Amino acid sequence: MGGSSFGTLFRVSTFGESHGPALGCVVDGCPAGIPLSVEDIRRDLQRRRPGRGAGSTERNEDDEPEILSGVYEGKTLGTPIAILMRNKDQRSEDYGALNDLYRPGHADWTWEAKYGLRDPRGGGRSSGRETAGRVAAGAVARTFLARRGIVVQAWTASIGGIYAPLRGDEDFDPAEAERNSLRVPGKRAAELIEARLAELKKAGDSAGGLVSCRISGLSPGLGEPVFDKLPAILGRAVLSIGACKGIQFGAGFAAAGSTGSAHNDTPVRKTENPGASAGGTGPPPPGNETGLPPEGERALPPGPPDISFKTNNAGGTLGGISTGMDVEFQAAFKPVASISQPQRTLDRSGAERELSVLGRHDVCIVPRVVPVVEAMAALVLADLVLRHRTARA
Ligand SMILES: Cc1cc2nc3c(=O)[nH]c(=O)nc-3n(C[C@H](O)[C@H](O)[C@H](O)COP(=O)(O)O)c2cc1C
Repeated sequence: MGGSSFGTLFRVSTFGESHGPALGCVVDGCPAGIPLSVEDIRRDLQRRRPGRGAGSTERNEDDEPEILSGVYEGKTLGTPIAILMRNKDQRSEDYGALNDLYRPGHADWTWEAKYGLRDPRGGGRSSGRETAGRVAAGAVARTFLARRGIVVQAWTASIGGIYAPLRGDEDFDPAEAERNSLRVPGKRAAELIEARLAELKKAGDSAGGLVSCRISGLSPGLGEPVFDKLPAILGRAVLSIGACKGIQFGAGFAAAGSTGSAHNDTPVRKTENPGASAGGTGPPPPGNETGLPPEGERALPPGPPDISFKTNNAGGTLGGISTGMDVEFQAAFKPVASISQPQRTLDRSGAERELSVLGRHDVCIVPRVVPVVEAMAALVLADLVLRHRTARA
């Protein structure tokens, strides 16, 4: 099957089905000499695991990563890095009833229409479990980026129509997003969302939501016009996550109703706006306390002056190239398709059937998608950092 590999120089392939023996990834193109441990990968995989709240699946995989190649004595070798996570808590019998049925909102029918057969156990490769390989690969990319002061952080911006505080709001607290399992940057909003998810679970229903992501510590110059503009490949990367239905950068869709005078970000000398590249109104992220791009990666002389922007409506790129401001985007995820509430559908013979999806599912996947969004953003940035090295003689 095509379509399981991503990236140009920093390249990842993922493999595995939800109820197969294992899932994983192969990262090719990661430079040698980057310190990398199982712990670096485990940390991100743990953030992708279901929480213990009302919105979470009861499937309990430990997602313990094994590094099979590409690392020696704690450092990358420059050779392909293969990472494996074994599936242990499959209960394929829960899915027996789905062999002949097409779940509304899921990928069953389209996979069968394309390949002529499918793995019905937990959705096979169209399952959200596929993202474990992405997160493991993303952890490698994050380690590479951290050495350049580039930090990717995402959080839950809304679930079921209940919004978390916005960045810049007094009660916006990114540390809180790491404390609660819903990844909501505000305690009160997290409580309201938890209550809403409990109601939906009782009703056998599900919810969608928004994930916000900020990439800070970027130098100007990343992104490859014209087809590989930074937002273009970031958009492709994020839209490839199951259930993602949209992405917007900076002011996003609201820009369509704005005016040039309101929307344009005014360039200013960096000395007049020292905090901007550290995340605008928010606190600098961990690992990049200075907020400045790493020495040697700023525009080379005789380049333009070191500038910043008063606002960041552009979301950190102009002409597909990073401006040095944070890259900021928001992605929309639909409500989980597999719900226990009875729904009408068709079976393979075309007969009408009623379906209540059994098995273990999230009421809302948004909290679990947060580290997946971070992983995809990190993979895009690692690739662009390497590609940028070919830009000038
Ligand atoms: C981390 C994660 C977990 C997911 N869990 C579920 C789930 O429990 N039930 C479900 O119906 N869909 C789940 N999905 C979404 C499906 O994978 C996705 O909706 C399906 O493949 C159809 O693709 P599409 O929605 O992109 O068109 C999950 C996705 C992710 C990223």
